[in-house]
Amino acid sequence: MDNAKLILDGKEYELPVFVGSENEVGIDIRKLRDTTGAVTYDPGFANTGSCRSAITYIDGDKGILRYRGYPIEELAGKVRFSAAAYLLIYGRLPTELEFLQWRKQLTLNSFIHASQVNFFDNFSTLSHPMNILGSMVSSMSSFYPGEADDKDLIHHNIQRLIGQVKTIAAFSYRKSVGLPYIYPRTDHSYAANFLRMMFATPAEEYVVPKVMEEALDMLLILHMDHEQNCSTSTVRMVSSTMSNIYASVSAGINALWGRLHGGANEAVLNMLQQIADDDGDYMKYIEMAKRKDDSFKLMGFGHRVYKNFDPRAKILKEAVDKVLTELGIHDPLLDVAKGLEEVALKDEFFVERKLYPNVDFYSGILYRALGIPTEMFTVLFAIGRMPGWIAHFLEMRADPDLRIQRPRQVYIGENLRHYEPEE
Ligand code: ACO
Repeated sequence: MDNAKLILDGKEYELPVFVGSENEVGIDIRKLRDTTGAVTYDPGFANTGSCRSAITYIDGDKGILRYRGYPIEELAGKVRFSAAAYLLIYGRLPTELEFLQWRKQLTLNSFIHASQVNFFDNFSTLSHPMNILGSMVSSMSSFYPGEADDKDLIHHNIQRLIGQVKTIAAFSYRKSVGLPYIYPRTDHSYAANFLRMMFATPAEEYVVPKVMEEALDMLLILHMDHEQNCSTSTVRMVSSTMSNIYASVSAGINALWGRLHGGANEAVLNMLQQIADDDGDYMKYIEMAKRKDDSFKLMGFGHRVYKNFDPRAKILKEAVDKVLTELGIHDPLLDVAKGLEEVALKDEFFVERKLYPNVDFYSGILYRALGIPTEMFTVLFAIGRMPGWIAHFLEMRADPDLRIQRPRQVYIGENLRHYEPEE
């Protein structure tokens, strides 16, 4: 492909162009400022490629999502979460033996340091579980310090992060309801261990319902990676300073918390409940979302990249019907969600702007069916996203183009002026 040409102030500049493996075109502007004196302006970075990545491919117009080349439809509900995590981090699916060893290591590394367990006693009862998760992950670096370029230690830290994120999540829930902590077992899958740690009682054997284990496995895989989304870009930004993996990932957790990102799943459920309490009058909320003078948005709708159906929402919608039927649950919020979706998809405002349900629209209804409290929905998202953040951390550290991330700006403030002391 030919170089791109830029004409600025009558002068012509050539910008090198490169093509990705799915024919995406990148214009290399690394020398732009040096040669022209100008910078690009792209609020929200909607047109900015911050790196080359081999982890996840998305075609937002066609509704395609692939991890390491595999379509999401062939992974979610088809392989175990631990196997998909291995794929994302190491670039290929594990052999049977590798899978068993890896899963065992994840469990053996899922025990929170005994001194750190006491931390749960000192959070305010008002703490949001995402706040607890971010803080606990950040403080892991004080229990497992060192790292820099020690490859073995990095891989041990990876196992600790994937293993412990679910323990932290389950313990913060058990603490909030005053129940004793339950520890994971090596003969359970990742999802089964999480459900056991959440819902078992030490007084009797807890058999993890298969339908719940499989639904959770699928949910976690659906959330595992989404290329340069806000939280992943945050992890990359922090790790570009050579911060350790715990500091980098905890920054990602905090970015995920916001309601325009991972926090949307909690916001969707609160919105559906509000509509149900309002006699199911979803037309009122559709009209509110369209008004320019109202900050209300239809939560779980719209996406920066997907201008077509989010493939994860498609999978989830089918799974919700199946799992709720198998569990014998009729959730009135599902009726509200389906009604809302039907109207929105025909409404000119949403059609024109290509606003479709995203991953968060139906996930909450499924979490609810599994007995997960609403304020923990985003924590579940973080558990699923952990292998993605780690894969990006490793890819970035190995990237020969790595530089500290430091965007430029176009200054629009006061010109030079001088302080004149009063006489
Ligand atoms: N409800 C109503 N209007 C919307 C919505 C929505 N959910 N989403 C976008 N729009 C409108 C915008 O107001 C804008 O209208 P305009 O052109 O008249 O000004 C137009 O659609 C384009 O939207 P942008 O704001 O440019 O979209 P952007 O890419 O910046 O934001 C985002 C994407 C944050 C996801 C947005 O669609 C949104 O806020 N959705 C609701 C929150 C949500 O569900 N977040 C989860 C995203 S998925 C994830 O992070 C896991």
